[in-house]
Parts: sequence; structure tokens; C-alpha cells
Amino acid sequence: MRDQRFIEQVIEGNNIVSVVEQYLPLKKSGSNFKACCPFHEEKTPSFVVSDSKQLFKCFGCGKGGNVIHFVREMERISFYEALEKLAGRIGLKMKSRSPADVAKQTRVGLLQKVYELAQDYYKDNLDKYGSIPLNYLKERNIPRELIDLFGIGFALNSSSGLYNYLIKNQINKQILEDSGLFVKTQYGVADLFRNRLIFTIHSQSGKPVAFGSRKLDEQTFGGKYINSPTTPIYTKGNELYGFHLTKNDIGRKDSAIITEGYFDLLRLYDNGFTNSVATLGTALTNEQIKLIARYTHNFYLLFDGDLAGKNAAIKNAGNIITAGYTPLIIKLPLDEDADSYLLKKDPKAFEALIDKAQHLTEFLKQDELIGLNEKEKIDFLIDIAKDIVDPISKELFAKSIASAFEINLKSIAAKIRPKKPKTIETKQETSLLDEISKLKYLEERNFLIHLVNRSTLEDEDIEDIDSDLFLDDNYKKIFDTLRSSGYIIENKPISSVLADLEDVDPIQVKALSEISLLELPPESFSSALKDMRIRKYRYDLRIIQEKGLNNELSKDECLNMKKDIVERIRDLSDGVINKTIQRSMDD
Ligand code: UTP
Ligand code: MN
Repeated sequence: MRDQRFIEQVIEGNNIVSVVEQYLPLKKSGSNFKACCPFHEEKTPSFVVSDSKQLFKCFGCGKGGNVIHFVREMERISFYEALEKLAGRIGLKMKSRSPADVAKQTRVGLLQKVYELAQDYYKDNLDKYGSIPLNYLKERNIPRELIDLFGIGFALNSSSGLYNYLIKNQINKQILEDSGLFVKTQYGVADLFRNRLIFTIHSQSGKPVAFGSRKLDEQTFGGKYINSPTTPIYTKGNELYGFHLTKNDIGRKDSAIITEGYFDLLRLYDNGFTNSVATLGTALTNEQIKLIARYTHNFYLLFDGDLAGKNAAIKNAGNIITAGYTPLIIKLPLDEDADSYLLKKDPKAFEALIDKAQHLTEFLKQDELIGLNEKEKIDFLIDIAKDIVDPISKELFAKSIASAFEINLKSIAAKIRPKKPKTIETKQETSLLDEISKLKYLEERNFLIHLVNRSTLEDEDIEDIDSDLFLDDNYKKIFDTLRSSGYIIENKPISSVLADLEDVDPIQVKALSEISLLELPPESFSSALKDMRIRKYRYDLRIIQEKGLNNELSKDECLNMKKDIVERIRDLSDGVINKTIQRSMDD
């Protein structure tokens, strides 16, 4: 269990308006504050901060919550880390945890611990037993400072080295199996990485969340690179290699060089191109693009000069364009990658390549390696154009296709069907809100809006309201949380209830934040409850009818139950029964 009292103290002590203001400028708007949302691209502000309710909500992308949620989203750290940070801001100290507390930590916390210990272990090995890997790194020209800075380590040629180390550090066996750092063999559990150089992949805040590994010789079993899998603390498409060290320089230099491999990134960094990140061999996701876009909108793509590299470059350029930015592609000689090029040439030569970087349209127009003919190239570009959400970016891109291929803008425009301005990155979020359907369960939503606003119900005790009245599971959860959290009886602030909800179902935090910022005339409270009841009874009626049809209930049973429900509906609706309900009695 978390210390709810402590969480409340932290929320009380950190005014959400002043915390948000440390990250972005806020404008007063009525009783609230507004800004352009930091979590998605937008031109008109739909991000609202409420001083009175101490919460935030973006009506564009759906994100919302209390001050801790805000810092969590903004810094991309865990709820716990955000809590710690905000506690520090007001001079409160988190209780240090005893070994017993450690065991009680959440799975995420435990996994985090496993990865931290594993990183220590791999780093230690490099110094204690690392003559071969250190020699390898030396031959590849990686200086010692970079080894330390990036947390490069070594996995011994042992099937139980890491395992024993973690057990010695009181990590329980169950969590080890969930960590993705071990494989099951016929002899039991074995270390995933054996006799390999280890690259630590960090979260944006600098915590180790995954590892990559490279074999040191051809004889070693397995692929050249092996990476740890997705876990509750690591999703591949959400992180970028090196980003925790380079994000500030990306912001300062207002550009990001996006490359592919571990060594490419290390080489760039060593040559002073400290505004770089690596994708680790997969296509950039929307999530990663958004992450970089927080620091700069100038994307430079630096992929191998061969066919695979060019394909990766155009794919990634397409993804970035779709997200509304204009990337440039740096061209490397056919047989080079960033690492090999910078080993041969000096940074000046590389800067000259950067200066000559091309837009996707020009790049594709000139390319002969990929093997597309002129028509196929245009079709490829038009496909990208179709997915661009922002109308201005779309038009600019259409123009650049037209001018690069010397064709009429009109014929391109005709091929690009207009799309509704619904941003791709918010699709997922809005579908969540759709799910908590605004129309279908309007009564439930209205009822909750009243409840959050503490309107009073005449002749009605909140404790007596049956939570089965809710047909929507999401709303039902919110209702149960509001009731059990002391929000209504103890007058607890909504921002702390949001912290409780975090434990039950973090997804609901967004929905409750939205509800909390809406208002309805107080007098409509009892009618909202009445509507909910009627709707629920009608729903029950339908169920009984179905059961009757399926012979799960006898005719008599069916009739009696229906009568009872119709009576209740009649009571609620002042004796007025509509035709559909009347008819259901006759079936
Ligand atoms: P490359 O095959 O281009 O390797 O893969 P590289 O980075 O040039 O490696 P070196 O120079 O031979 O050591 C590019 C990136 O793709 C990922 C790795 O992140 C690698 O750095 N990759 C590649 C894998 O994850 N698995 C593989 O089997 C190969
Ligand atoms: Mn390489």
C-alpha cells in the first residue's frame, strides 16, 4: 500500500499552477488557465489547468490528472518518481525503505531494481574480468569516458553469473523470470547474455530499463546483437538510445541527428555531435518522434549508405513527415555507416555532409539504389502525403513533390484525398474517451459530473445508490472510487482522489479529470439519477426478454419480473410509460 497521507501532503504543498508554469507558459482563461498542450502538437490551446480543483486536462489528446500525473507525463518518469520529485520541491523526504518495504514494492519498482543491479554487475565485470572486451572497445576506438558515461559493460561467459548476483542481492526468483534477462533451458534458468559486450538502454530520465549486447567474436552463439525484450518498464518504440544524455544538447543545438546503431551513436557523440540518438534498428515510432519533437523540430536522418540504410531513411522520413515535421536526410557513401565514416574522416567533412542533407522528395528523386521508377517514387510520396494531418504541412509537402518531379500541383492535390483533421497521435486517446462513450452513457456521465461538483441530492443518501446502476464499467469504477475515497463524506480534494484511482485503474484518471472540469446546473442532479435508473431498468427489461426468448425463464417468471420493473419505471416517470416499454409487456 502506498502512503496516501504522504501523497496528499505532496499534492497540497505543490500548487499545480505554479508547477505547470515551470514547464510552460499559462494564460488565465476564466477561472482556469490555458496553454498549448505539451503532450501533443496543437496550434490552439486545449490544455486546461484548474487552480480550484488542482488538476489539469487536455481536451485535445485526453491526458489529465493531478500535479503528480502532470510531472510524470512531462518528465516521462514513474508515478513514484514524480512523487519523490514533488516531495523534494517542498522539502519533504520520502521515507527510506527497509528490506521489508522493498519486497512490497510494485512489480515495476522491483524490475527497476533488477535492471539497476544488473547494470552495476555488467559494469563491474568490465573492470574485473574485461581484458577482452576492453581490448575490443579500444580497437574500435571507444574512449574510456564514453564507456563510463554510457554504462557499457560485459556479460561473462557464464550461464548463472547475473542470476547468482541478483539472488545474492535478495531479488526474488519470480521477478527474475519476469525481467527478460534470463532464458529457460533444459537445465533450468540461464543468463540471456553470455560473453557479450553490454549496452545499457536508459529511460529518458536516465534509469536503466533494457540492455543490448554485441558478440565479441564469431564463435559466440546467437546473432550479432541480442537485446532484452519488452517488459513493464521497457517498450522498445518508446525509448531512444542515448537520449537521456543528449536531449538537452538536442534542445540547445535545436537539431537532432537520428542514427541506427550503438556504435554509430557513440562515434557521433565522441566527435562532438552530442545532439544524436539511435533507433536501434527499428523504424521510428510516433512516440519517439514526439519525444524528440519536444526538444527540436529539426530532424536529421543518418542511416547506412547501403540499400537497407536508404530504405530505413525513407521509411523514417515518411513517419516524421506524417507527424507534421520536415526531416532532412544525410547521405553517406555506399559502404559506410556513421561509425565507419567518422573513423576515416574528420568532423568537418561530416559537417559538410550535414549541410548537403536533402528533403525526402529530392533524396528519392535522385536515388538509383532503391530501384523505384519515377512513377513509383511519386506514388510512394503521395501515400505519405495522404497521412499528413496538418493541412499546411500537407500542402507544403505536396508542393515539394510537384517541384522535385516537375509535375502540376493540381494532379498531386487530386490524388491526396482530404482527411479529417484528427491527429494520429491522439487517435488512441480519443478512442479511449469514445469508449467511455459520451453519448451512450450520457446519464452516467452527467451524474458523475454532479457528484464531483458536490451538488446535493435531495432525499437521497449516496451510500444507498446501487453501483450496478452503471452500465459502463469505467464510470462505475469512478463512482466506486469517489464513494470509497472519502471525497463525498470527508470532503477530500479531487486531486487526491485521482491519486487513489491511480492504484485502481490509471486509465480512469484521464476520464475523471475531464469530468471534474465540467459543470452542469445543480438542479439537474436528481433528474440525472432518475435517467440513470430508468435506463438501467429498461436494460434489465431487455435482458429478461432475451432470457424469456431463450427459455431461460418461464413465461410466468418473465411476466412477473417485467411487471415489477415496469412499475418501477412508472413510479420514476410520473406514470408515463412509453410505447416500447408498454409493448415489451405484450410480447
Ligand atoms: P548493424 O547491423 O548496421 O550494426 O545494425 P552496426 O551498428 O553497424 O554494428 P557494428 O558496427 O557491426 O558493431 C544496426 C543496429 O541495429 C540493431 C543494433 O541496435 C545495431 O546497432 N541490430 C542489428 C539488432 O538489434 N540486432 C541485430 O541482429 C542487428
Ligand atoms: Mn557499424
